[in-house]
Amino acid sequence: MATPRIAPSMLSSDFANLASEAERMVRCGADWLHMDIMVIFHFVPNLTIGAPVIESLRKHTKAYLDCHLMVTNPLDYVEPLGKAGASGFTFHVEVSKDNWRELVQQIKLKGMRPGVSLKPGTPIEEVFPLVEAEDPVQMVLVMTVEPGFGGQKFMPEMMDKVRTLRKKYPSLDIEVDGGLGPSTIDLAASAGANCIVAGSSVFGAPDPAQVISLLRKTLEN
Ligand code: DX5
Ligand code: ZN
Repeated sequence: MATPRIAPSMLSSDFANLASEAERMVRCGADWLHMDIMVIFHFVPNLTIGAPVIESLRKHTKAYLDCHLMVTNPLDYVEPLGKAGASGFTFHVEVSKDNWRELVQQIKLKGMRPGVSLKPGTPIEEVFPLVEAEDPVQMVLVMTVEPGFGGQKFMPEMMDKVRTLRKKYPSLDIEVDGGLGPSTIDLAASAGANCIVAGSSVFGAPDPAQVISLLRKTLEN
């Protein structure tokens, strides 16, 4: 059975107070901190943070930094993010068709945990070779919104992908990202997701600890 993990998306945090926001989330029970790395018009229409911010944040927290790369050239980020202290490195399958083997190898070499993500329109079959490779990815991140922004509506039809993965790979880390919160966690948990990214539902709540604990309880049941 894959370990349940709740990963608040720091995209919804106060970026001007990132270190204290990270600490607050850890205090509220977060297992991982989800870090969305976006480069505008290179994969998504938004811009967030890169290795320098991860490096600065790393000086303030020991937490697992679960980096989600929404860029067209993830290989260029492996070395800087490894040096900066990233923990997980999840790239998109849509931009890695030719070099995913090298990517996985380099990510591991730099001491990070490799993961692969797919957009809502990408068939789940595209990640199978990466999970079944001799040197495999250790997590699949199923996007449940179009990547780019927090606060969007969860796409329940993506749960078919999660069910398919869970049936094929009983112990794989399966992460879902986009629109997750108390009203959608049942669907994700029953489909077999074990890592839950939650941005607006956690940061927008009066009591984030309560939301995190509810998400965790649903996963554990
Ligand atoms: C969207 C990002 C998500 C986002 C989730 O492209 O990958 O991590 O922050 O935010 P919510 O939980 O608000 O949908
Ligand atoms: Zn994300």
